[in-house]
Order: sequence, then C-alpha cells, then structure tokens
Amino acid sequence: MVIYLTSQLSELDKYKEFLKIRPIIWDPERKELSWIDTRLIPFKEVYISTKDYRKVAHAIRTMEIRGAPAIGVAAAFGMTLAAYESAAKSVADFIKDLETAKRVIASTRPTAFNLFWALNRIMKRVKSVSEREDINLIKEAIENEAISIMLEDIKSNIEMGRLGSKLIDNNDKVLTHCNTGALATAGFGTALGVIRYAFYEGKNIEVIATETRPLLQGARLTVWELKKEGIPFTLVTDSMAGIVFRSGKANKAIVGADRIVLTGHTANKIGTYMIALAANHNQKPFYVSAPTSTIQPSNDPKSIIIEERDPNEIRKVLGKLLITVPDAKVYNPAFDITPPELITSIITEKGIINPPYLENLQRVLNP
Ligand code: MRU
Repeated sequence: MVIYLTSQLSELDKYKEFLKIRPIIWDPERKELSWIDTRLIPFKEVYISTKDYRKVAHAIRTMEIRGAPAIGVAAAFGMTLAAYESAAKSVADFIKDLETAKRVIASTRPTAFNLFWALNRIMKRVKSVSEREDINLIKEAIENEAISIMLEDIKSNIEMGRLGSKLIDNNDKVLTHCNTGALATAGFGTALGVIRYAFYEGKNIEVIATETRPLLQGARLTVWELKKEGIPFTLVTDSMAGIVFRSGKANKAIVGADRIVLTGHTANKIGTYMIALAANHNQKPFYVSAPTSTIQPSNDPKSIIIEERDPNEIRKVLGKLLITVPDAKVYNPAFDITPPELITSIITEKGIINPPYLENLQRVLNP
C-alpha cells in the first residue's frame, strides 16, 4: 500500500516548478502531517508536525493553517490521523471514532466551505468501502482520499492560474486582498495563483496588496510570497482601495473565496465587499478565483455562516500592542459577502464563469 501512496505522492514532481512553497506536507511512512505556521510568517518559517488530529483542529482554529483550500486539505489529513489513531475492532466503532473526529475538526471555522466539503468527501469514501468490513482497508482508503484532495487542489490551482491569466494583460496593476497564495492552499494559490501564472508567462504586472486588517494576511503572507517570487508589489491599507482604483494605481481586482453559493454571492475576507464596491464604482473588473470545492450547492446566500472572532484581534495588533481602550466594544466578522452584481467573473478550474451565475455555476457543478 505504501508503494501506491508513494507513487501517488510522486505525482507532485510533475508540478515542481509551481510548488516553491509547500504549506502542508504528508509523510506516508510516518503517517504524520506537517504544516508551516502561517502566524509566524514573515518573521520565521517554522514547520509543526503531528500524528494527532486534535492538533490539526487546533491549528485550523488558531490559524496556523488558514485559507479555505488549505483548511480543506488539512481537515482531510486530520481525518487520516484520526483513522490511524483508532483502535476500534469493529467497523461500526471505527466509524464512531471518525464521526467524533469529524465533529471536532468541523467545529474549528464555520465559513470555509472546503472544510465541510473535504470532511464529507472523506466520509463518503469511508461509506463506499465500509461494506468490506476491513478496517485497515478503510484507513488506507481515507489516506488515499486525503492525498487525492491535496493533489486535486494543486492541479485546480494551476488550471485556474492558466485560465485566469487570460484575464491579465501586460502592464496590469492588480489589486488583491488577504492571502490567496501557496500559503492558503495545497501549494500554488487561487487569486495569487492567477497573478503568479501571468508573471510566469512573462507579463509585466504589479500587484497592489492590501494589508488585510486585523490579522494582516496581506502585509505578512502575500507580500512574503510576492517578494520570494520577485513579483513587483505595493502594499496599501484596506481603506485605500477607493483611491487606488480612482487614481489608476490598480486597474482590476482579483480575490479568492471562502464560500460561493450558486447565486454567485461570495464570502471572502472582511473588506472584500468594500473593494468590490470601489472597483465597480470606478468601472474596474472585479474577479473571484476559487476551486469548485469552494462552491456550496445551495442557492441561499443566507446559509453562509460568517465567523465572528475574538474582539482582541481588533483591540490589539497581532495580539500585542493595545491600540484602543482595553474594553472597547468590538464587532469582528472575519468575512463579508460580495453580491453577484459586483462580480465580473468567477475563475474556477473548470472554466471562467460569467453571469447569470445561478445557471452557469449550477452547470459547472453538475455538467
Ligand atoms: O481568515 P483566513 O485567512 O482563513 O481567510 C482567508 C481568505 O479569506 C481567503 O481569501 C480565502 O480563504 C481564499 S484562499 C485561497
């Protein structure tokens, strides 16, 4: 079995040129998961390893691992760790252990659809092999499924890059928000993957990266990735989006997504909606780039749960410097929802989707 897993993982070699940063690494021999602690970037590059799914859940909750696709991939390996940890002697007890792990991992962050998509996909695979009553076989099937989820994410990212790059012209100045790069995925990026691909194709581009209050994913992570690649960038605060579009310092925007429903309503990092408004008011295209694993097959935008986080994330800078009175009343939604009328197109690995979204997203999910 290990031979099969190793050969499955050796597929990664094919994408070496796109995988300069590996945020999540699975060791099939040791049955161990490692990830880069994104809270420490750009100051330190530290990998954390574990065989304990609870530590994976903790890493997602505390945002050592963040970004919807990365969360999905980590969740799938979390289930793999839970499977190998289980000492159950019957398939029924084994499935109970998996359900417990699924609950723990699912409770970490409510908005990223990839989290629930990956957990459900693992459980579907379990059901498809559980009739054989062989627990070891189910464990291997779970591990294989997690590796497939990781590989598919990498392939989707590269394909979104290839397709999305057609929307990027030479000399473009592209505004992006939060971090949607390698650090938010299994290794290449969604919106930042499009930018990266266009740069690899030799296009002269400049990225306008928003700092992304309050946790500064743009200033810390996106800028770190862009600098590593040598892609020209300018860092701005989130509140500068209006002047940036108006003055022509950016001529288009591309962002990622945590959850898209079939109507096209898109949940993404807080501030995205404001950027979409500023882009539209200034007649600049506003693109979303996300794999189909981020699309929830529902046409109800109200079904999107918006995570609200610790008020201290707003009161303090990165948990340290207090910038207001200690008990200031705070509202801290981690995401907002951009309505479809502000979205020019949605780039997926299955094609560039244009309005009307309800019809066209449905077709992409059920070809
Ligand atoms: O709170 P985060 O850092 O997990 O939020 C991440 C985002 O909002 C990203 O834009 C989104 O997950 C897409 S990542 C490819």
